[in-house]
Amino acid sequence: MKDLKPHQIVTELDKYIIGQHAAKKSVAVALRNRWRRRQLEPELQDEIAPKNIILIGPTGVGKTEIARRLANLTDSPFYKVEASKFTEVGYVGRDVESMIRDLVELTVNILKGRQQEAVQGKAAKIARERVLDILLPSPKSSPAFGSDTGDDASPKPGDKPTEHTREKLGKMLDQGKLDDRKIDIDVQEKNFPMVEIFSNAGMEEMGINMKDMLGNFMPRNTKSRNVKVKDALALIAQEEAAHLVDMDEVKNDAITLVEQSGIIFIDEIDKIAGKDKSHGPEVSKEGVQRDLLPIVEGSSVPTKYGTVKTDHILFIASGAFHVSKPSDLIPELQGRFPIRVELSSLGASEFSRILTEPKNALVLQYIALLRTEGVHVSFTQDAVDKIAQIAVEVNSSMENIGARRLHTLMERLLEDILFDAPDIENPFISIDAAFVEKELIDIARNQDLSRYIL
Ligand SMILES: Nc1ncnc2c1ncn2[C@@H]1O[C@H](COP(=O)(O)OP(=O)(O)OP(=O)(O)O)[C@@H](O)[C@H]1O
Ligand SMILES: [Mg+2]
Repeated sequence: MKDLKPHQIVTELDKYIIGQHAAKKSVAVALRNRWRRRQLEPELQDEIAPKNIILIGPTGVGKTEIARRLANLTDSPFYKVEASKFTEVGYVGRDVESMIRDLVELTVNILKGRQQEAVQGKAAKIARERVLDILLPSPKSSPAFGSDTGDDASPKPGDKPTEHTREKLGKMLDQGKLDDRKIDIDVQEKNFPMVEIFSNAGMEEMGINMKDMLGNFMPRNTKSRNVKVKDALALIAQEEAAHLVDMDEVKNDAITLVEQSGIIFIDEIDKIAGKDKSHGPEVSKEGVQRDLLPIVEGSSVPTKYGTVKTDHILFIASGAFHVSKPSDLIPELQGRFPIRVELSSLGASEFSRILTEPKNALVLQYIALLRTEGVHVSFTQDAVDKIAQIAVEVNSSMENIGARRLHTLMERLLEDILFDAPDIENPFISIDAAFVEKELIDIARNQDLSRYIL
């Protein structure tokens, strides 16, 4: 378990997200509170409900980015959904309960993967023996009829050398000398083509997977395949690993983990806020909120792996709330998100840092990309500041799309270099403020042009 302390979580987030300290701090506290709760005695644990959070802030300031990075920082099951994807129960589309089913599914897969990894050694050993059996059928398992007249206990002439040969062959196998030899193995057919026809659509609500259901009734088809030894080893090991995994344990552990430490990030929650104006056929936002409420308040959701109680799942919501306000959510739902954090809009100095400081900073990305062509670009600090300043200008003269503006600006700035890179004459290019100005300022100042290009 990665039990990071709050300041460690913030430090990790700092590697990717510039500023937004309040938001980082509150998610760090929320995450740590999960851990704190798990240290308590069970009775008290039940009493402590998670403090759900709403992150509020304009477009492109790092809300979704925080969620993405957070997912990698926690060993808790983490699932991110977009609120706008949901429709009311009874309408075509995804109902809100599907987020719980997806979270469980994801957790089952992670735990299954971990278990498979744990039995990898064992599976590899079995695979090795099976391949040796195929390469060298043992005389005991396939006695030649009629040829054996003596009594069974007497040593057979073939025994010793075979054992010896097997050992030698095993050694060659381990050294990879037989890797390219072809052998026939029986592998299980993965797909039931017939079943694919009734896909899962419609069944999903019940949490039933047709394939799994029918898979248990249908005979497991095996098919003989002629493959290289090294592929055979991998295939058999994979199959064995799947057999060795205790699926009941995985399912139970997954449910417990989801119930105790699951986190769901609901992005774009502002899209379901607001009163419904019409009574037309369109999906009711309020309806979606009403469906969401029991899940956030705590209820039991059936999934194909078992029932999940959602009482202790942590919900972090986020939204720009341009048009609607958090107070446009139905009151019960508002009450379930007691922590509100505002993210600030970003200025030139933040943009400069976003361009260069994060591990995945745009400037670093372009430098790396061009290096693959043998082109070495570098950016002077005043070039970076200039790009940041132009981003602010364009954001204020047109729509404010936050840091996303940097993506379009950088692409435009480097367009020619990216195009010419393979046959550029001087592979050392320094990008300074003058270059930035020359490439971008005309477009940036021309509203009509920038509307289309930047
Ligand atoms: N504070 C920041 N630090 C570093 N990069 C950022 C920051 N804010 C935004 N970005 C960059 O801008 C892009 C868009 O940000 P993000 O997806 O987080 O926006 P958002 O706040 O979720 O906006 P929206 O409300 O439109 O969904 C990210 O991919 C990231 O590269
Ligand atoms: Mg977003």
